[in-house]
Amino acid sequence: MDGAAGKKMEREQGPMKTERGGVVVLDFGGQYTQLIARRVREQQVFSAILPCTTAMEEIRKLEPAGIILSGGPSSVYDKDAPKCDPAVLAMGIPVLGICYGMQWIAKNLGGTVEPVERREYGPAQLDLEQAASEILANFPRTMRIWASHGDNVLALPPGFHLTGKTANAFAAMEDPKRKIYAVQFHPEVNHTEHGTEILRNFLFKVCKAEPKWSGAAFIEESVEAIRQKVGAHRAICGLSGGVDSTVAAVLVHRAMGDRLTNIFVNTGLLRKNEFEHTLEMYRERLGLRVIGVDASERFLTKLKGVADPETKRKIIGGEFIAAFAEEAEKLQMGEAHGEIKFLVQGTLYPDVIESVSVKGPSATIKTHHNVGGLPEKMPFTLVEPLRDLFKDEVRKIGKDLGLPVEILVKHPFPGPGLAVRLLGEITNESLAKLRESDAIVTEEIRRAGLYEKVWQAFAVLLPVRSVGVMGDGRTYGLTVAVRVVQSDDAMTADWVRLPGEVLERISTRIVNEVPGVTRVVYDISSKPPSTIEWE
Ligand code: XMP
Repeated sequence: MDGAAGKKMEREQGPMKTERGGVVVLDFGGQYTQLIARRVREQQVFSAILPCTTAMEEIRKLEPAGIILSGGPSSVYDKDAPKCDPAVLAMGIPVLGICYGMQWIAKNLGGTVEPVERREYGPAQLDLEQAASEILANFPRTMRIWASHGDNVLALPPGFHLTGKTANAFAAMEDPKRKIYAVQFHPEVNHTEHGTEILRNFLFKVCKAEPKWSGAAFIEESVEAIRQKVGAHRAICGLSGGVDSTVAAVLVHRAMGDRLTNIFVNTGLLRKNEFEHTLEMYRERLGLRVIGVDASERFLTKLKGVADPETKRKIIGGEFIAAFAEEAEKLQMGEAHGEIKFLVQGTLYPDVIESVSVKGPSATIKTHHNVGGLPEKMPFTLVEPLRDLFKDEVRKIGKDLGLPVEILVKHPFPGPGLAVRLLGEITNESLAKLRESDAIVTEEIRRAGLYEKVWQAFAVLLPVRSVGVMGDGRTYGLTVAVRVVQSDDAMTADWVRLPGEVLERISTRIVNEVPGVTRVVYDISSKPPSTIEWE
């Protein structure tokens, strides 16, 4: 089971206009919970995922038109099986239970659920019943569906009728009077035929939701909500050079102009020319007010002699907060005279809710450092305009805000930067080698027209020396590993089968142009069991 159940998701303010009348997805820890939320938004209906234990009043605050109960890995008979308040089924708001959601509904309303010996997993055939169904109306009598469940509903609760079954199980049921619907399969995955129509029927026929959630509406309402919240005060924002913090800053800048001051810290661990270029983009092209802080010396001093990856990450995280806090304090003491009351962060939905189903196990494998992980002790109120969104939605909002393409398509870059791509101790010399190699990888990937097609492409400097020859002499040089991966969400990744000519150009250029590197290897590991980064 996941930790979602225990976590409370707080909303400081009520929903925005286009969020009202959306759908609340209550998370039982299922692997497809995010996908359900995504599919709903694709229909231009707002959706928010909340832990299944969320209090009724929190759910009501969103004024939902419908509630979806997600799937989950548990059996309803497990000792710590996740539950939500049964009152959810009596609010008069339409409910759709999916997989575990269906079993939970059946068990709660007086049906019977039985554990089965063998989990039904994968493709199955759904046979529709003759009985009328609101959400399965006008479909072929048999459809291919995607199933993944361990329990079966054996007897329907009173008031329900069966609308579909598979060879092994009751697969769909509904009680139109109470507006409770349930399917034991997954309409949200592509392998289910007519899955989108099933969700659309629920949203538009049953819930009568309005398709009003869009990027433009989101921007307009966010700007208004930020204005209301900050009033005449000032705010600061930490920029990382990545898309999330940039979109958050531009949105807030629209609302409050130069009363927003941004801080961009050079850790000395950024890519070649990144600090200068990004700073220029922020200032010249986006018109943001940005203080650039060059703290590279101080980071490198603190990292001297440190080779352990976790220690590196901790030092960088700590130093980052310290550097940011100092700048914020200078501002607060100086020209802004105590007027700064707000801290803007580009927190996304997956950062908000610490559920395995949303955040993935990688969060506990490495200490992640983000600008988003900032500072608990600072006396600021948070402004987090992106906290309901997923990464691809943020990119879309960025596009609607007119951000330059280069920032929208930029590959993810870890908070600790090149430090986790330079194995062993970090020195100015090794950083210079890595930076050059990395720039060559990026240039060649761009030249091959692959930059926007791959998830990440970068170089790693290994503290491994091997014998070589150059001209007439023997060498004993370092090794660079090249990593290019494809991924949808960084939870899993596969190495990219780069064309031989591209590999060749990368290798030749690195060995010729980066002094001290005499060997280049290509990383052909997938995630899992490897990770994308090397440390
Ligand atoms: P791994 O190496 O865990 O990385 O497979 C998954 C994704 O996360 C990025 N990454 C980080 N991002 N702070 C970040 O903001 C970090 O500390 C961090 N470590 C890894 C990595 O680049 C990949 O996209």
